[in-house]
Amino acid sequence: MKSVDEYIEANKDRFLEELLGLLRIPSVSADPKYKEDVARCAEAVKQRMEEAGLEKVEVCTTPGNPVVYGEKITDPSWPTVLVYGHYDVQPPDPLDLWDSPPFEPVVKDGMIYARGSADDKGQFYMHVKAVEAMVRTGSLACNVKMMIEGEEEVGSVNLGNFVKANKARLAADVILISDTSMLANDVPSINTGLRGLSYLEVEVTGPDRDLHSGVYGGAVANPINVLCDLISSLHDQDRRITIPGFYDAVQELSAAERAELAKAPFDEKAYMADLGIGAVQGEKGYTTPERSSIRPTLDVNGIWGGYTGEGAKTVLPSKAHAKISMRLVPDQKNEAIIRLFKEHFERIAPPCVRVEVKPLHGGEAAVTPTDSPAYRAASLAMEETFGKKPIPTRGGGSIPIVALFEEVLGLKTILFGFGLDSDNIHSPNERYGIFNYMKGITTIPRFFKHFAELHG
Ligand code: BES
Ligand code: MN
Ligand code: MN
Repeated sequence: MKSVDEYIEANKDRFLEELLGLLRIPSVSADPKYKEDVARCAEAVKQRMEEAGLEKVEVCTTPGNPVVYGEKITDPSWPTVLVYGHYDVQPPDPLDLWDSPPFEPVVKDGMIYARGSADDKGQFYMHVKAVEAMVRTGSLACNVKMMIEGEEEVGSVNLGNFVKANKARLAADVILISDTSMLANDVPSINTGLRGLSYLEVEVTGPDRDLHSGVYGGAVANPINVLCDLISSLHDQDRRITIPGFYDAVQELSAAERAELAKAPFDEKAYMADLGIGAVQGEKGYTTPERSSIRPTLDVNGIWGGYTGEGAKTVLPSKAHAKISMRLVPDQKNEAIIRLFKEHFERIAPPCVRVEVKPLHGGEAAVTPTDSPAYRAASLAMEETFGKKPIPTRGGGSIPIVALFEEVLGLKTILFGFGLDSDNIHSPNERYGIFNYMKGITTIPRFFKHFAELHG
């Protein structure tokens, strides 16, 4: 790997500058006002992929944001790696909590501050640069296909159809994704699981118009009060979810599996201090790392209604709303969970209000085996560049398309993430370490080398 390493070292300043360029494009998928920026970002990704030596690079239109696809097929007898990533980013709000503007990247103390720096531009771009380094030094030992989408942060709603329509083009031996985090820069780890997701919105309607809260208050149900009651009833005293049937399909881990996961270092005091909380909270009988990875959850992501402007306005609102997400574990199914939630919520709603449950998006959980040639290749690659064998961990986040890749393409995924939980993804001051960016670029070629050897 000497010549690849030398190439990467010699070009590292340019690799950083190029990433900063991508980070300047506000490719926010959730908000239609960024539509043109999203399209511009897709074009930029296409150009970068071509410059890196990928061929047949195309901006593929979908009913939503485009998918950028390219490949470098050198020898049909070689194994093929399909790299997936996303160029869309989360909205930058709340803007006033950023120390520097989210789309004007700043490099400070070895960190790149910008929306999308870790999730996922900085991480997918490591693959573009690793491919460039392998192509230029003649050391690419696998065929590569690269698919970078623009709707991951809004549930990849059009990617399923794209994958189904392009099965032959996407045929590969493994999927490689850098869109997760490691335990620490000196504790490398590989995610062996992701949670699924069910995301929905609820609307509670009381009187047919906003009312004076003095004239009517006390006699007419307040939809916000009712919504709060309903939401709080969704957990019991042990912080278990009360929706009947919610846990029926949950795959419980054996004591041995839990003991294995518990080997990953975790400092609860540091965790609480970092978050500024006085105590953790979660399902009885499980540890903090378990609660945030192998157990299903229910969280309110947003709640609104009534008067939220300056000062006070006495009003008994007509409507209240909340956005609710449930993280799922194997073998819970998104559709079934949405149905259970809807039936339960409609059942528990008191007659003084009407409720409506609107599903938004979702996807299934995924687990990856640790005994495959691809996992061994990933583990060896990290061991070489970090000097330590990576620890397998179960992640709490979701990448819904991973389960779909397995279903449609029959392929397992390697979650080859180089971020940290402290990167503030989806939060103000998102950041990505230059250490992590460069580590990814040097580790990826080693994965390709080992995978070519081990795949056989
Ligand atoms: N990259 C994240 C997922 C992630 C982050 C997994 C950290 C593991 C560790 C991804 O971009 C993401 O944010 N996914 C969403 C789901 C999507 C349907 C909006 C999520 O997990 O909330
Ligand atoms: Mn991501
Ligand atoms: Mn994300």
